[in-house]
Amino acid sequence: MGAVNTVIRQQLYSEVPLVNQVSEYIISAGGKRIRPVLVLLIANAYSYQGTAHHSLAAVIEFIHTATLLHDDVVDESSLRRGKQTANALFGNAASVLVGDFLYSRAFQMMVTVGNARVMQIVADATNVIAEGEVLQLLNMHNPDVNEADYLRVIRSKTAKLFEAAAQLGALISGADEAGIQAAGEYGRSLGTAFQLIDDVLDYSGNAAEIGKNVGDDLREGKPTLPLIYLMENGTPEQRELVRSCIENGDEQHFNQILAAITNSGALDYTRQEAQKASRRASDAIASLPDSKYKNSLLELSAFAVDRNH
Ligand code: IPE
Ligand code: IPE
Ligand code: MG
Ligand code: MG
Repeated sequence: MGAVNTVIRQQLYSEVPLVNQVSEYIISAGGKRIRPVLVLLIANAYSYQGTAHHSLAAVIEFIHTATLLHDDVVDESSLRRGKQTANALFGNAASVLVGDFLYSRAFQMMVTVGNARVMQIVADATNVIAEGEVLQLLNMHNPDVNEADYLRVIRSKTAKLFEAAAQLGALISGADEAGIQAAGEYGRSLGTAFQLIDDVLDYSGNAAEIGKNVGDDLREGKPTLPLIYLMENGTPEQRELVRSCIENGDEQHFNQILAAITNSGALDYTRQEAQKASRRASDAIASLPDSKYKNSLLELSAFAVDRNH
């Protein structure tokens, strides 16, 4: 990860000062760096011997960072990585444009690796993420969104980048097709578990720990699994409240909704679904030879569920 950080630092540079300012601001705030770690762990688990995994890990983190810059504009979020969001500090225009800079810088770096399959994986993932965010926009304020609709959104907006990260690690290590597919399944399931828990933490988390505001999803009228479960299993009064919160976006009823999703088992259900996805991730890499990297991958799939930040 030290080598990945060096690549990130080198590649952030631009002659336009505002680009440096905004990109430095969000990158230096850190973040968990799970996606680049995933590239390295999978590559090492497949005994990779080169250095391209450092560049590709940075590519994936740049794409992730670009989506965060854009996402915080779309979601009108004010807190990220424990700091004011870039949109709150520099404005929406600067966030969108520097997000574009990071996306396109990632593509420049990816081309340097000079592998057509790498380019295909990254290009496809980026396209699917954009689709997922648009699909989610269409689902906004719609109380009739069901679990399948929701899963389609999170597989696209979040799990796809995890899948790509894992596939890249396997691909550059010369893994065979079955190995690349297994890595992809690991990443996809890990990413699904990760976003399910993100959606739990948006209700039950602690802002100081998650580094983001709690209650953003309800304020936005975003139908995530805890609300969808309550919509399908709650009392008539609870359903009516959820419907109105999703349709209008709501801040006032946060505590009431939190009590309802806790007592109805909606949060537990969402955690259980995350646990299932995490188990699918672990199962997908069962046939990898034992190594400390494989152990870390197994720990990572447990962390995706058992996390507070
Ligand atoms: C945030 O991802 C966006 C989601 C997919 C939930 P992370 O939780 O990995 O963000 P950082 O990079 O650690 O800040
Ligand atoms: C994150 O979506 C997914 C992408 C950035 C593409 P969310 O909106 O659910 O994530 P947070 O809560 O802002 O990190
Ligand atoms: Mg968001
Ligand atoms: Mg969002």
